[in-house]
Amino acid sequence: MLGDLDSQGLLRGKTVMVTGASSGIGRAAARLFAAQGAAVVVMARREAHLRALAAEITEDGGRAGVAVGDVTRPEDVRRAVSMAVDAFGGLNAAFNNAGWGTVGTTLHETDDAVYEQIMDVNVRGVWNCLKYQIPAMMKQETGGSIVNTCSIAGAFATGALAPYVAAKHAVLGLTRAAAAEYGAHGIRVNALMVGTTRTELVEQAMKKIPDLESAAGARAVIQRMADPLEVARAAGWLCSDQSSFVTGGAVPVDGGCSAV
Ligand SMILES: NC(=O)c1ccc[n+]([C@@H]2O[C@H](COP(=O)([O-])OP(=O)(O)OC[C@H]3O[C@@H](n4cnc5c(N)ncnc54)[C@H](O)[C@@H]3O)[C@@H](O)[C@H]2O)c1
Repeated sequence: MLGDLDSQGLLRGKTVMVTGASSGIGRAAARLFAAQGAAVVVMARREAHLRALAAEITEDGGRAGVAVGDVTRPEDVRRAVSMAVDAFGGLNAAFNNAGWGTVGTTLHETDDAVYEQIMDVNVRGVWNCLKYQIPAMMKQETGGSIVNTCSIAGAFATGALAPYVAAKHAVLGLTRAAAAEYGAHGIRVNALMVGTTRTELVEQAMKKIPDLESAAGARAVIQRMADPLEVARAAGWLCSDQSSFVTGGAVPVDGGCSAV
């Protein structure tokens, strides 16, 4: 449920692309950004979920474009960026949030196929997004802001699968490299270091590890899981001009996990 402060026009006049928008953090972010005044281009593979989300946004008076696609496929990402430019006049910000992981195996027990899928979605997905979003933003005098969804697993071995830990470390590396290369073009790039958040991904993990919720709570200073909207609010701030001097950052939204 959005609060009053969420509709204060933080993103008015901007077009923001959101990947992994069919559920969880991405869905909450798309709704929030639209309420904050942005036109949103929502991307994920599940068309029905995206159409329902876009309908909700337009019923509330917002603007949304649907780009059905897989972030591991460069052509799908290119199409989503083109939609932002053609339908809404440019791409001011992007929330590269699509990701996937699983739990329950140690490194030597993990199938190669699982390794490949985790790397493909989390690393190649962000890579594809950066490759197409950056040139679109370079064409604009206003530059842009890119936010990549990382994780506390991007800085620590949290107990998540080893390939997920490696993939999220790589997301942080891509974030810092892109921030360094494109700062002169007015493009800021930041990573959100997300703690355990109540989403589909975590509901699936809890089926395999029932005490995940209490373990996540025990690790954090604020002893609970995040709500997706709490993560989305930080992403919205990073996409907005309010964070104009923040780039190359690893911004924690983790309930204090990384502090203790
Ligand atoms: N939930 C957590 O505790 C947590 C913690 C740290 C980081 N994260 C990260 O947050 C991000 C969002 O995850 P979530 O928790 O909202 O889970 P979620 O499963 O609800 O959402 C993930 C989204 O990514 C989409 N997606 C997956 N593979 C895709 C692909 N190949 N192409 C396009 N879309 C794809 C899914 O369909 C879904 O919309 C992920 O990057 C995840 O790694 C989550």
